[in-house]
Amino acid sequence: MTKSQNKMWGGRFTAGPDAIMEAINASIAFDQRLAAQDIQGSRAHAAMLGAVGIISDSDCAAIREGLDTILLEIENGKFPFRVEFEDIHMNVEARLAELIGEASGRLHTGRSRNDQVATDFRLWVRDQTDVAILGLEALMSAFLAQAKLGTDWIMPGFTHLQNAQPVTWGHHMMAYVEMLARDKSRFEDARRRMNESPLGAVALAGTSFPIDRDMTAKELGFDCPTANSLDSVSDRDFALEFLSCASICAMHLSRFSEELVIWSSAQFRFVTLSDKFSTGSSIMPQKKNPDAAELIRAKIGRIFGANVALMLVMKGLPLTYSKDMQEDKEQVFDAADNLMLALAAMEGMVGDMTANCNNLRIAAASGFSTATDLADWLVRSLDMPFRDAHQVTGTLVALAETEKCDLPDLTLDQMQSVHSEITNEIYDILGVENSVASRMSYGGTAPEQVRSQIARWEATLE
Ligand code: ARG
Repeated sequence: MTKSQNKMWGGRFTAGPDAIMEAINASIAFDQRLAAQDIQGSRAHAAMLGAVGIISDSDCAAIREGLDTILLEIENGKFPFRVEFEDIHMNVEARLAELIGEASGRLHTGRSRNDQVATDFRLWVRDQTDVAILGLEALMSAFLAQAKLGTDWIMPGFTHLQNAQPVTWGHHMMAYVEMLARDKSRFEDARRRMNESPLGAVALAGTSFPIDRDMTAKELGFDCPTANSLDSVSDRDFALEFLSCASICAMHLSRFSEELVIWSSAQFRFVTLSDKFSTGSSIMPQKKNPDAAELIRAKIGRIFGANVALMLVMKGLPLTYSKDMQEDKEQVFDAADNLMLALAAMEGMVGDMTANCNNLRIAAASGFSTATDLADWLVRSLDMPFRDAHQVTGTLVALAETEKCDLPDLTLDQMQSVHSEITNEIYDILGVENSVASRMSYGGTAPEQVRSQIARWEATLE
């Protein structure tokens, strides 16, 4: 092939593309990742063309055999990806011509690269959606195992990163199970919506050939064909939904990463991360850094960046296909790769980390963390309105602060100097074990509640 005679579209051209044109136009460097999906789509299309009699059985068989050979070449790293053929679709077709000759030219009957790329990319995103769902399930199991291990270990619960009320380790771990479960259901929901086949929309308007779109849809595992050919070739919602699910998920991973960074610091010592997921410093021999957590914390940047980038590519595009849309793939590839990596690294870290129960318990008891329990006791035992109880408790906290002690260290005399009806009973109330055990409201931190949530999720994940 000379450059002036591009077999795919060279008829009306007398000159080949400028080198710069080739560089900006070609997508083969990245869309070769769609090779398997491209061949899958072409096999389905060829089988349909054969079945409805648009091409002969022998051409159909030759095409399908040729495609199988190409798939093997790709799998064995033997396939010649050539930039002059621009993208994966034309590379495969050009190779098919070399392998089977004339019959290859019939494959593109009733098809365009516009519906072809929409189909290939959907198949790829659908695969990655499934991979993300599996990764999320694995990570949920890792959090669940931590929750089971320390269902009733007591740790500080924070608001504003200030000690708020004691909670249980199990409860904190199960919070992430809830978050990841929402991520999973978002991916599942997006998958349902994306699972329609654009193949057969052709360039934009459909075709005069008697194609069977139900047949190709079924062959490719789609629920049905898409219903509007214009929308089919111009839609990239499936990629945007994938990126938005990925962004929210990465944001969750980033939040736990931040907790791990804080928790593993010398100031907190709540958890010890395994050596497998930490690194040392080249100058400070004592250092063990939570690099994996920090990197996962940062991944949201590029993943959400991809989401924004594709949104801006699509914004303002008139129907139907525009070459702008070739800019969809690298963003999604990068986001998917990094999401999967982050999920796997997080699963490893959560599985391997060790909670330092003693430190957790000591921290849980500090910072007047059971002040709410004291106020609640005043309400329950002395029938005080909550606002008054809040006032009395605040005065007791201020007293403890002046005395430089914690609430349970105040003597009964000191307590009664603030409110005369306070009794000895208060010292049971001020213990952190009592505090967590008493939070029996549905979804509360009491170990009994946490246990029932663990059981519910174990049954769901099975
Ligand atoms: N490489 C193109 C893409 O990724 C394939 C579709 C090309 N279609 C066209 N009409 N030029 O979007």
